[in-house]
Amino acid sequence: KKELQVAIDGPASAGKSTVAKKVASRFQYIYCDTGAMYRTVTLKAMQTNVALDDAAALATMLTDTTIEFKPGTPEQLVFLDGEEVTMAIRQPDVTNNVSTVAAQGTVREDLTNRQREIAAAGGIVMDGRDIGTSVLPDAEVKIFMIASVEERAQRRFKDNAQKGISTPIDVLRQEIETRDHKDSTRAISPLTQAADAVLLDTTSLSIDQVVDKISEIIEQKR
Ligand code: C5P
Repeated sequence: KKELQVAIDGPASAGKSTVAKKVASRFQYIYCDTGAMYRTVTLKAMQTNVALDDAAALATMLTDTTIEFKPGTPEQLVFLDGEEVTMAIRQPDVTNNVSTVAAQGTVREDLTNRQREIAAAGGIVMDGRDIGTSVLPDAEVKIFMIASVEERAQRRFKDNAQKGISTPIDVLRQEIETRDHKDSTRAISPLTQAADAVLLDTTSLSIDQVVDKISEIIEQKR
């Protein structure tokens, strides 16, 4: 059996990471959340007063930055320069600034290199915005996961409630639309469906149904 690269892309709050984690554990593949990497870089820039659109300063900052994933329950833990930032990178201020940092070419180049190293041996499920189009153009399985804005706002609202974040639902809807617009219209590797990706609309599907569909596609290819 082949150890595949599985790329899962799509707009904000489409359920990518929830599904990607389950698919990875079903096949005993590594899971890599590339959004967490962009979030971690954003957090560090905010903490150290690096301007979020200063491509050169961000590049310099990254030469001296480690981002690590470690196993944890219920979710993977994220470490920035050795300190745990799993919750900090999910706070609304990071969420609303991340697209600005992610639009900088220097940041994308640096993180893309790190992501390719993580994925090199295969046996990986990687989720993000540009995995199928840019990071892993040769991935054997590419999924483009979408859901209606209304459904995504509701999912994010429920998610937030568990984390003790209480942003009203119409603010969430607006934030999701703004972030998708920025991610889809940036000059460098914008969010877009790869020509060879399978489109999966999850609006009226359960998590398990989506996991089953992707698992079938993996089974056919390995
Ligand atoms: O997936 P998540 O919502 O955590 O991603 C946060 C942000 O990171 C996205 O809105 C996008 O700006 C950026 N991102 C990206 N490319 C990726 C993954 C995330 O630009 N591969």
